[in-house]
Amino acid sequence: MNKISLPQASKLTSPNPVTLVCTQKPDGSTNLATVSWWTYLSYNPNMIAYAMAKTSYSGEMVRNNKKVILTIPGAAIADEVMGCGMSTGRDTDKIAKLGIEMQEVPNSEIKIPLHSRVAIKCSLKEFIETGDHYLYICNVEDVYGNEQEEAVFAWNGYSQIRPTK
Ligand SMILES: Cc1cc2nc3c(=O)[nH]c(=O)nc-3n(C[C@H](O)[C@H](O)[C@H](O)COP(=O)(O)O)c2cc1C
Repeated sequence: MNKISLPQASKLTSPNPVTLVCTQKPDGSTNLATVSWWTYLSYNPNMIAYAMAKTSYSGEMVRNNKKVILTIPGAAIADEVMGCGMSTGRDTDKIAKLGIEMQEVPNSEIKIPLHSRVAIKCSLKEFIETGDHYLYICNVEDVYGNEQEEAVFAWNGYSQIRPTK
């Protein structure tokens, strides 16, 4: 085997998972950010975690109001998912700019994309400093699924979003 860097390893593990982290902005609207670094943590109780750069606007939002929904986007919005990873909610309304259709989630002010295969509604339990990222550890409140939506993954070092087929 050849010695490689961790970013090179993430290319070799391609396709990697991809989520849209949905948070609430101070004006009540929803912000979407593309995140590959997420994982299930526990089934009893239900817990998940994801890592975001310390500078991300989404991180600021979830640290403020402790609420977040992670979605697995459907293939119909693959290009928009890439777009949500290329700009920040700090100065951009990504939903309007990218024309993403949204839907309501019961008992939540945060909305999610209409084309979502899975949605995991969470409250933030704690966050831990991990190098240049924070790891957000979340309690899962409700989970929703729609098998009709085809899952997408991040390919070739996060440069492409598409299904496995
Ligand atoms: C395919 C893909 C995967 C990404 N995965 C992550 C990730 O796991 N963690 C992270 O902090 N940023 C990730 N990003 C970058 C963020 O989406 C990007 O920094 C975004 O601008 C953050 O938006 P925000 O400032 O509105 O939170 C990814 C981007 C793409 C395109």
